[in-house]
Amino acid sequence: MSIFKPVTIVTGASSGIGSALVRVFAEHGHEVAMVARREQEMTLLASELALRTKVRPHVLLVDLLRADAPARIAHELLGRGLEPQFVVNNAGFGLIGQATELDRGEQLAMIDLNVRALTDLSLRWSDSIARHQGGILNVASLAGFMPGPGMAVYYATKAYVLSFTEALHEEMKAKGVRVTALCPGPVPTGFQARAGIRPGELPRMLDVAPERVAAEAYQGLMAGRALIVPGTGTKLVSWVPRFVPRGILRWAVMQSQGRRNSKDSIWPRKPSPRA
Ligand SMILES: NC(=O)c1ccc[n+]([C@@H]2O[C@H](COP(=O)([O-])OP(=O)(O)OC[C@H]3O[C@@H](n4cnc5c(N)ncnc54)[C@H](OP(=O)(O)O)[C@@H]3O)[C@@H](O)[C@H]2O)c1
Repeated sequence: MSIFKPVTIVTGASSGIGSALVRVFAEHGHEVAMVARREQEMTLLASELALRTKVRPHVLLVDLLRADAPARIAHELLGRGLEPQFVVNNAGFGLIGQATELDRGEQLAMIDLNVRALTDLSLRWSDSIARHQGGILNVASLAGFMPGPGMAVYYATKAYVLSFTEALHEEMKAKGVRVTALCPGPVPTGFQARAGIRPGELPRMLDVAPERVAAEAYQGLMAGRALIVPGTGTKLVSWVPRFVPRGILRWAVMQSQGRRNSKDSIWPRKPSPRA
């Protein structure tokens, strides 16, 4: 038996889907360690949850873009007598625009956060997660199912997260570890402003509230599901790539991103049905 207490790590816990996930885990009795850069937001949430659940979540101020971030989280947990039972890799961001015109450094940082940090944190505690019969929840996206001209690097990072997580799901099943990919469509959070999407530019019909996304994610993870796509409309869109030729899919995504892209409101391309 371990002398360490099991904890659920949630990255990107200071806003949006991450905050909602912290609430759900805390309300189900998990001890939670919140990871992000904004202290005030996390402290407020920790205080609110301490009152409601009688257990105060831990606040870890960590910039996951730093190469030593995963080691710092491990060090902090050790110091508090904690070891991971569940790891929720939620921190991430996207950028709208043509890849060749967006800042290259920012796009590489997106890969570091959405892919590199997520991979490190998914692999780092596999023994402790197995020992506690826990799991890993990786936040991918509807974007992971298709190529994303107009948000090329972001879609590619989420395709990685989806593929990696599904593979890990199979590999870790035998150890009794649950591994789940969460693939939300549009969720009204700070994500859109960070990505450069202006208010009103997105159609709202596919919107799912962060609270509902988090509740479905928690249920799906605990049930050992490989994949969760919250919302009926989002589920339908996630099936489209199975039936539509890749050329048409690329064109359709490009049109929809192009409409939102302030620099390139209309893309001068026609669909090419050949894949
Ligand atoms: N909203 C959507 O429509 C949507 C759809 C599909 C998938 N997703 C995915 O859902 C996840 C959560 O996004 P959200 O919608 O909740 O957006 P959000 O409100 O902008 O939250 C992003 C979170 O990531 C954290 N973060 C960003 N950079 C970080 C860094 N360098 N180090 C540590 N933490 C960092 C932020 O915290 P700090 O700024 O405090 O560090 C924040 O807590 C992302 O992976 C996103 O790709 C979102």
